[in-house]
Amino acid sequence: MTAPARTRTSDELIRAEEPVLAHNYHPLPVVVARAEGAWVEDVEGRRYLDMLAGYSALNFGHRHPALIEAAHHQLDRLTLTSRAFHSDRLAEFAERLTALTGQDMVLPMNTGAEAVESGIKVARKWAYEVKGVPADRATIVVAADNFHGRTTTIVGFSTDETARSGFGPFAPGFRIVPYNDLAALEAALDETTAAVLIEPVQGEAGVIVPDDGYLTGVRELTRRAGCLFLADEIQSGLGRTGRTLAVDHEDVVPDVVLLGKALGGGIVPVSAVVGRREVLGVLRPGEHGSTFGGNPLSAAVGTAVVGLLETGEFQRRAAELGAVLREGLAELAGRGVVGFRSRGLWAGVDVDPAIGTGREIGERLMREGVLVKDTHGSTIRLAPPLTITEGELRSALASLEKVLAA
Ligand SMILES: Cc1ncc(COP(=O)(O)O)c(C=O)c1O
Repeated sequence: MTAPARTRTSDELIRAEEPVLAHNYHPLPVVVARAEGAWVEDVEGRRYLDMLAGYSALNFGHRHPALIEAAHHQLDRLTLTSRAFHSDRLAEFAERLTALTGQDMVLPMNTGAEAVESGIKVARKWAYEVKGVPADRATIVVAADNFHGRTTTIVGFSTDETARSGFGPFAPGFRIVPYNDLAALEAALDETTAAVLIEPVQGEAGVIVPDDGYLTGVRELTRRAGCLFLADEIQSGLGRTGRTLAVDHEDVVPDVVLLGKALGGGIVPVSAVVGRREVLGVLRPGEHGSTFGGNPLSAAVGTAVVGLLETGEFQRRAAELGAVLREGLAELAGRGVVGFRSRGLWAGVDVDPAIGTGREIGERLMREGVLVKDTHGSTIRLAPPLTITEGELRSALASLEKVLAA
């Protein structure tokens, strides 16, 4: 009989990663071993309230029973076919996701960046075949301070030097305009424009909520210019802001919506391009694909996620608890918080730099049993699971108050 592997401590595991893992992340020094709902537990059994929720990939909390059940059920029947064959799970996933989002068709993928890449390909093809843009001239207009993922094409139109520098040469065909500036957007649109690609709320930039009317304006300008509106709802969508999609706050229907993160229920990577038939209909067999996209396990979990959102409960919770979050942060204004933005259960909080960097605040909160992530400088982002209770949310705010006062 082999001896059981010696259990390593958190410190030992962190040190063990150092020589064998690429250093493309700088995680907080917590080693999570178990999780349930809004709580995670480290190797030593210390518990932490998860106020990041996997950058919104865990909107329904860790291991939501309905999602775990759907995954278990599917694991026992069929996990992968590739799209060389049909599976008995994909039709329902697409039917219910299109109904939830008010769109016609779904292109299933896996990660967020893949959904963005797929949206770009579809928009270009649409521009050549439907709009009549001359070959290889299509442009896509994006916003400054965007975050759409990490592929070479996507980082090529980032304005964040850390994301871009050292990874060129980049794909041409993108124009960058300031976010939340309709006049600049209008000036950038011309007969070569295939699409405008924006986040309805800019997450990584620090939860930047545009002015009321901006999304309506983008819809109106793209309609007038005869180009597509692609909304990247990978972080903002699926309940986070208090509505199913962030564009719903202005009753705007984009031509294409990009989804990811929470669509996989925190279990498997699931992303999707959902859009109008006239747009997604330009793809023909062989022109685009993914071995894992739309696999039966992903489709089963994705369908269960759609099932949770169909109840409206999570959108309602995000709206109601979002009001608690907003009030709590307003009370901290001038007491360590120098500014904040929020929509639903999602906030970017600018901490007085004299108190600490976002990273330092994150480390201090970790010692208080609360996990958050910094974005830039002294900004931290709060995005707890939508299953968090009001009491848990208030205790996280109390921990923030304590850390800011220390
Ligand atoms: C708005 C947005 N788009 C795309 C992505 C990329 O998603 P993924 O990391 O799954 O590739 C992210 C990830 O943070 C995001 O926030």
